[in-house]
This record gives sequence, structure tokens and C-alpha cells, in this order.
Amino acid sequence: MQKIVIAGLDGCLGSAFLGLTDILSLARRAISAANAPVAASSGVNEFCFVTASPSGGPVVAADGVRFETETSFEEIASCDAIIVPSFAPDANGKAPDMSIFASTAAWLRRHHARGAMIGGCGSGVFLLGEAGLLDGRRCTTSWWHHEDLRQRYPRADVARGARIIEDRRVITGAGPLSWIDVGLHMIRSLCGVEAARIAADFTVGEPTPPKNGTRAPTFGAITSSTGVDAFLAEAERVVRQSDANFNSQNLASALSTSERTLHRKLKQACGESPKTFIDRIRVETARMLLETSAKPVKELAAAAGFLDEASFRRAFRRFAGMAPSAYRVWARAKSQDKAQMFSLRKESEIIPEILTKILDTCVNGVTLTDPDLEDSPIVYANKQFQEITGYASNEILGRNCRFLQGKDRDQEGLRRLREALKTRQPVEVTLRNYRKNGDVFQNKLNITPLFDAEGRLIYFLGVQFDVTEQLRAENEIGDLRAKLQSIG
Ligand SMILES: Cc1cc2nc3c(=O)[nH]c(=O)nc-3n(C[C@H](O)[C@H](O)[C@H](O)COP(=O)(O)O)c2cc1C
Repeated sequence: MQKIVIAGLDGCLGSAFLGLTDILSLARRAISAANAPVAASSGVNEFCFVTASPSGGPVVAADGVRFETETSFEEIASCDAIIVPSFAPDANGKAPDMSIFASTAAWLRRHHARGAMIGGCGSGVFLLGEAGLLDGRRCTTSWWHHEDLRQRYPRADVARGARIIEDRRVITGAGPLSWIDVGLHMIRSLCGVEAARIAADFTVGEPTPPKNGTRAPTFGAITSSTGVDAFLAEAERVVRQSDANFNSQNLASALSTSERTLHRKLKQACGESPKTFIDRIRVETARMLLETSAKPVKELAAAAGFLDEASFRRAFRRFAGMAPSAYRVWARAKSQDKAQMFSLRKESEIIPEILTKILDTCVNGVTLTDPDLEDSPIVYANKQFQEITGYASNEILGRNCRFLQGKDRDQEGLRRLREALKTRQPVEVTLRNYRKNGDVFQNKLNITPLFDAEGRLIYFLGVQFDVTEQLRAENEIGDLRAKLQSIG
């Protein structure tokens, strides 16, 4: 049975936390009832859920109301999904500062790495950003938080106008009430379409069933139709349907407003000028076409509403940060699980087994150190590193490599090495190191910084060669040569 955790955090919206428990409990009952007449194995997949908080104690929602929870985060050994409800906005109308939830963010990251699906509703999406789960992922949040989300988590690929997005086990929903969408989407992903249909029928379905007795599995079709939100949505719709000659003047008249008012409203809603807004919506269309079609760039530029290929390329680079063809390759790789196999992730336990086997056959030492952890400890060392140094794996992992220098800390190579690490440059130095039995050896050390697809430093890779014999031979040859010269 699939297990969903509702994460209770102080400051969350009470409606979101309680609403999620209500909707999941109603859905669970409806699915069990639908299963009752048939053998359990042939029925619809069921799920269970649990409410949890950092301490296992009550959650104090934004309005001061307390809600009990069943357990603490740390007591949850495994789960299939976690949902983070929306938070109440702070005094400035923004999502709260998420750094206060650092340990919850780490907990989310750990469960995601172990295969759980993580969902964020409205401003709850910011906590997923804090956990690094939005890096390189397509995501959404409430429209008034878009710019803030982009700024706080620049590696998040924030899609405007999307109400719910799932990207590689991360689900994000727009709007404080998106917990309905996220909850139902989760049920669909974990338990299948039929379970989601039953759940939707008993939670958000229409008041009366249609004549043929079946209902479409609506995942909530609530769209705000008031205020700036409606204005933006309408502006976006008009731009999407426009042709290449369409400009800000046309947009103003299509929205029955003056250019001045259009300018003011767009600035207020999304901080963009009408021209930038039009370009961005067109680039969004082009991104979707690049992801879903094999159209040549020129055709695609026209389909997205650009006058010519050159202006499309310029605008695309400005918004997406790369060329259209590069984006196509990147988006494809991103959507293929295989491409992830060798991409490095932070959790050392998931460094792929195959890669580990390959590295164990190397004739040199191979280490990975994690610069995000205190004092950059070793998180991986292959067999040869253990053989060269004489230390066992449990004596190596978690320590900074400097333990191999013993008290011999005044070495010329170390100065260069420190400088390279500081500036994240590759470096090669030879250091005097000491084996566990005290023997000195000459360690020719090659260090390379490893960056992920977004240019974030994730590990340093160290390759160690024991060049003691080689240096001894070279020295002997040098001595002999000197002797010969002195004789001659
Ligand atoms: C990936 C990696 C591997 C390293 N391997 C070694 C090593 O095998 N032997 C060694 O003496 N230092 C090694 N170092 C260098 C030390 O960890 C440390 O950076 C160095 O001593 C300078 O820092 P410190 O002044 O804080 O000691 C390695 C560093 C990195 C990043």
C-alpha cells in the first residue's frame, strides 16, 4: 500500500493542512468502498496517509490554531510521497523565509533520493526550492510568487501559467488551494487513473453526475477570474493567439486598455514591459514546441510568433539562457531516466553501483569529496585508495583528505592546491603523504571540480597516483648522471 505523508509545518495555512487530511481521507474511503465487492488483489490500488511534523508535536497554523500530528519526520523510515501544504504570506505578502526549515528541506531531499514523490502547494513550493529539488526542474507556483521563486531559486525552471507540473517525482501546484490538485495528482501517480477518478468523484466532482452516469476525472478546474490574475491570463491568451506582427499597441487594444495602463498593470503583475511580456510568452510556446516536436528551429520560430529566426534566437537565449538546439538536447536528456544514471547526485549511497565497480578496477586511487558538507569530507573512495593508504573504508569516509599529511603540513604543493580549490580550478600537485603504518609515499594528486548541468559545484574528484618508486628511480638516474658528469 502506498504511503503519503502530509508535512505539517508552523505557519502553514490551516485550510491546506486540514484540507489535505480531509481530501485524502475521503478519497481513501471511496477507493476502499469501490474495492469492497471485489478481491483486494483485483481492485483499485489503495493508499494510506499520515500527518507529521518536525517534532511529532502539534503544528501551529498561520492563524494560531493548533493541529495535532501523528508522528515526527524522523520517525518515518520510508514513504512513497510527501506533500508540503501552502504557507500564509509574510507581512510583505511573500512566501516566508524557508531557511528556518533547513532540516525539513534535508529530510525532503533524502526521501526524494530514496524514490519518494514530493509535492508542494502554492508557497509550499518554496520549501522544495530550499531542498534543491527545483534545480533544473520545470515547476510552478502561485502566479504572484513567480518572480520571487525565480529570484530565490535561480536554478528552478519556473513555468508561468501552469496550474500543476510533475517533473521527475516533483509535483508543484499553483495557488493556495492547489493542495486539491496536488493531492489528486499524487493519488493518480501512485495508485493509477481509476483511483484518481474515484477520489475526484468524491471530493471535487460536479454536484450532479452527467446523464450517462460517468464523470470526467476533473482535477479541479478552478481559475481565478478576478483582478490582476484574470488580466494576466487574458493577456497571455491574446499573445498566444497572435501573429508575428502583433505588438504592445495591439495587446493594449485587445485588452481594451491604453498602452500606459497596460504598461503599469504588467509591471505591477510580473515586473515586465509589454514587449518583454510578449517575447516571454512566445519563448514559452517555443520551449514547449522544442520539447514536443521535431520542427526545425526556423519553422518553430514562426509557429511561436516570431518575425524571423534571428530575433527568435536572441529572445530565446535571453529567457532560457541557452540556444534553442541546446535546449532541445537538454530537455530530452532531462526527460530520459537513463540520462540520469551517471549524473552525480548529492547522496553518496546512490552513486551507481556499476560506476563503483568500474572505479574499483582502476590502478589509481579515486576519491570524491563533498564541498557542501563541513570541512569537505571524503564521500567516496575506491579500493585502490584504501590499498595505497592502508586505511579501511570506515577510516576514510567522512574525513578530510588532509589526514594523509600527518604533521607534514609545510609543503609547497599545498599552497597551489588551496588556491585551486578556492577558485574551483583543476590542479595537479605531488604531496608527501603517510600510510597507516607510518611509511611516507609520494602522492601525485590530480583534482577536478565537478559541476552539474546548471553549473553548480557538486563534488571534487581526486585521482591519486603513488609515484614513490617512479620518483626514486628518477632521483637515482639524476644522481648517476651527476656522477658520470663529474667523472667525465
Ligand atoms: C578530491 C580531493 C582529494 C584530495 N586528496 C588528497 C590526498 O590524497 N592527500 C592529501 O594530502 N590531500 C588531499 N587533498 C587535499 C586536502 O583535502 C586539503 O584540501 C589540503 O590539505 C588543503 O587544505 P588544508 O589547508 O585545509 O589542509 C584532497 C583534496 C580534494 C578536494
